[in-house]
Amino acid sequence: MQVNLTVNGRPHSLLVEPRTHLADMLRETLNLTGTHLGCEQGVCGACTVLVDGKPQRSCITFAVDCGGAEVTTIEGFDADPTMTALREAFSAHHALQCGFCTPGMLVTARDVVLRLGETTEARLREELAGNLCRCTGYVGIVDAVTAVAAGRQPQAQQAVVATAAREAAPLLQAAEREATPTLMPAGGAMLEERVALAAAPEAAWAALADLRRVATCLPGAQLDSIEGERVAGRVGVALGPIKASFAGTGSVTLDEASRTGKLIGRGRDGASSAEGEVGWQVLPGAGGGSTLVVQLSWRLTGPLAQFGRAALVRDLVRRLAQQFAANLDAMVAGQAAPPARPLGLFALLWGLLKARLLGR
Ligand code: FES
Ligand code: FES
Repeated sequence: MQVNLTVNGRPHSLLVEPRTHLADMLRETLNLTGTHLGCEQGVCGACTVLVDGKPQRSCITFAVDCGGAEVTTIEGFDADPTMTALREAFSAHHALQCGFCTPGMLVTARDVVLRLGETTEARLREELAGNLCRCTGYVGIVDAVTAVAAGRQPQAQQAVVATAAREAAPLLQAAEREATPTLMPAGGAMLEERVALAAAPEAAWAALADLRRVATCLPGAQLDSIEGERVAGRVGVALGPIKASFAGTGSVTLDEASRTGKLIGRGRDGASSAEGEVGWQVLPGAGGGSTLVVQLSWRLTGPLAQFGRAALVRDLVRRLAQQFAANLDAMVAGQAAPPARPLGLFALLWGLLKARLLGR
C-alpha cells in the first residue's frame, strides 16, 4: 500500500506492507534509527515519536494509518529550543547511561514540559510512567525535566520548531524543489553515498554516460543489451554457499545539464528477487576532481533478503562505491578495464569485520 506522509518536515511517498509498523518503516526504510525498539508491544515507550504533534508508540502504530500525518522523530528536533534545553538538562543531571530509552523519554518529556509547564514531582512521575528506563533509574530524569519545566506556563501550541534536517544532497534538494516525494519499494531501504573521483567532472560524466563501460567498473555487473532507455543485464552475488545471479531489466534516464542519471530496475534469481532505484550526480570536487553522489533505494526478497537490512548494506555499499570509484578513475585515465568478477559479499563482509575490529 502507498502511504504519503511527512517525516521531520520532508514529504515521503512510500510503499509498505499493510502490517508494517511505523517504527519499522522509520528505521528500516528511512534509516531514522534514533527511534528505538524495546518491547515492541506498547509498554516501554522507547519507540515514542510525535504524530501530528502528539506522542505516540510507533511500534504499535501501523504505517498505513499515518497517511497525511506529520511525524517527528528524535532526529527532527535539532532546532527545537525545548528539546535543546532537555538534552542539556539530561546531560547535566546524569539522566542517561546507555541511552536506549532516551529518544522516547525526550519526546515524552518535551510534550510534558509544554503541556503542563511547571508541575509537581508526583505529576511528573505519573506523566513519565509510560517510558521505562532499564539502567539509569528515574531520579536524574525527573530532576532534568523538573529543571526545564521550572517557571514555565502550559502552552497550547506545541509545534516543533523547523527541523534542522540532515544535510541534504543536491539530488534530494532538486527532488524537494520539484516537490517530488521519495518513492521506495515496499519494505525497502534507502541510503546515500559520496565518493571522490580524481577525474574532472566533465570526464567523469562522459564516462558515466557510457553505460557499457560503467558496467565494467561495477563488481559483479554485466550489461547484456541497451535499447533506448531500456537496459538488460545481471548482477552476481555470492555469500559463502549462497550464490545468486540476478537477471533483470531496467530503464535509464540521463540529464546532461545537471549531470544526473537514474536507473530503475528489477531482477530475480529463483526464490530471491531484487528491485530498486539508483540515482547519481557528478559534482565538482576538491583539487579539480569530482564528487560522485549516489542514492540507492532497494528491496530484496527471498533467501538473500536477510542481507538487505540498511545498517549492514550501508557499509557494504560504501566499500562497493569505493571500488567502483577506483575502477572508474582508472578507466577515465585510459587504463585497462577491470576484470569482471562477481560481487563477493563474503569478502566484503570479511573486510567490513576486519575494519571494525581494527577500528578503521
Ligand atoms: S518498543 Fe514501543 S513501547 Fe516498547
Ligand atoms: S539510559 Fe539505559 S535504559 Fe534508560
